[in-house]
Amino acid sequence: MKKNTNELYAAYTRLMQKAADINYAAAVLGWDQEVYMPPKGVTHRGQQLATLATTAHEMLTSDHYGNLLQQLWQQADLGDVEKNNVRLSLEDYEKNKKLSPEFVDKLSRLTSEGFNAWVDARKKNDFSVFAPSLTAMIALKREQAELYGYKAHPYDALLDEYEKDATVAMLDPIFEGIKAQLPVLLGKIKTAPQVSNDFFHRHFARQQQWDFSIDVLKQMGFDFEAGRQDYSEHPFTTSFSNTDVRITTRVDENNYASMLWSCIHEGGHGLYEQGLPGDQYGLPLGSAASLGIHESQSRFWENCIGRSLDFWKFFYPQLQKYFPEQLGDISVDDFFKAANRVIPSLIRTEADEVTYHFHVLIRYEIEKALIEGSLDPKDLPAKWNDMYEKYLGVRPGDDKTGVLQDVHWSHGSFGYFPTYTLGSFYAAQFYERAKQDLKGMNEQVTNGALSMVLHWLREKVHAHGRRYNSEELCERITGQKLDPKFFMHYVEEKYKSVYGMK
Ligand code: CO
Repeated sequence: MKKNTNELYAAYTRLMQKAADINYAAAVLGWDQEVYMPPKGVTHRGQQLATLATTAHEMLTSDHYGNLLQQLWQQADLGDVEKNNVRLSLEDYEKNKKLSPEFVDKLSRLTSEGFNAWVDARKKNDFSVFAPSLTAMIALKREQAELYGYKAHPYDALLDEYEKDATVAMLDPIFEGIKAQLPVLLGKIKTAPQVSNDFFHRHFARQQQWDFSIDVLKQMGFDFEAGRQDYSEHPFTTSFSNTDVRITTRVDENNYASMLWSCIHEGGHGLYEQGLPGDQYGLPLGSAASLGIHESQSRFWENCIGRSLDFWKFFYPQLQKYFPEQLGDISVDDFFKAANRVIPSLIRTEADEVTYHFHVLIRYEIEKALIEGSLDPKDLPAKWNDMYEKYLGVRPGDDKTGVLQDVHWSHGSFGYFPTYTLGSFYAAQFYERAKQDLKGMNEQVTNGALSMVLHWLREKVHAHGRRYNSEELCERITGQKLDPKFFMHYVEEKYKSVYGMK
């Protein structure tokens, strides 16, 4: 690059890294809020977070920044990495500029208001308490879709925020496939001899559960010199750089299934963050590809690896050492089966790998209808309950276990849910490929040698940051775009071995 280009690029990097410093500082405050902050801290913490968010937003929507990007984009001698960073930054900039500061402010205020109303409504177990702010939020999200612009469906504009370039046209066939194929599998499972996980409800002491989870995370390759695990009410992953990644967990002494797989899940998110290129700090190539790809990493570890018999052949004897009384009479085979028990239920976050996607499907269909205006928010509870009955055969008895169970809509996160299903499907497709690329992967996993798997994910996924969108990345890794047949194959194989079906 010529001197002029070098100078411009250095100015761009400085500005981006300053904004990243602010955003990561906000992430520290956000992490603290969930992990340590005393209850009375909430008011000023909210203001502190808002101040940091607006400061970063102002920097990244300023005319100065816009001009810098435009100038850089016209430099013919930008290198490959630099060009990709500038291309993605320019896309972000143009998107951010479509929302006026007034709109951003309105959205942020409605988000706090909506969240409080949702918490209140859950306490009172009454959707009508949440309905007014949700109705206002939906109207604002429809406005946002118009501001962003879209080709075919207003929901596309919102999806794009979480999963760049994903559309209704891409998702509809995926969910149609779920509707057509998963009930068949579910039917077979229902008629097979059932699997018991009663022993998960024996007493498992908190400290031992914690210690074992740390053993597993270390074996997965999570770097505790560049991250930590803490307790919080809802498990999550956040990072302040690729060398400081935080995961959180919760424990239930009377339900072993509550903690460990969630640790592995967040560990998968954490490994992705630790694997992002450190020399691209604050730049697009130093950040994750999309939410769907992020979720593919967590589900790859949690489900494809962490719920496999191979994995437990290695780890189960170690777990039994922590819990000789609780697990002494349980074979590794029965433990593996219990970890994969399928049962339709009301709560998304507690669902197994098969029924989970009906929970997402229901939210997807509802969101599309709300955003296109064909569903009146006041009809939501009834619609929700009907769909649960239709797809899962269970009907919520109240709003708390029904339409009020997820926080997402109170935050205005419409378009987020589909990334959960995309994540699982990408994970299954990557897993199939990894088995081909890595000869003897299963034997390695049986020996606890997980570094081979991590190395593959590092090279195929983590190293690229945001350079490719999800579909491009999937094509590079597996030779084709997302194809649900890989997930279908994966679940069929798994449940054959769990339920002894043909
Ligand atoms: Co996740």
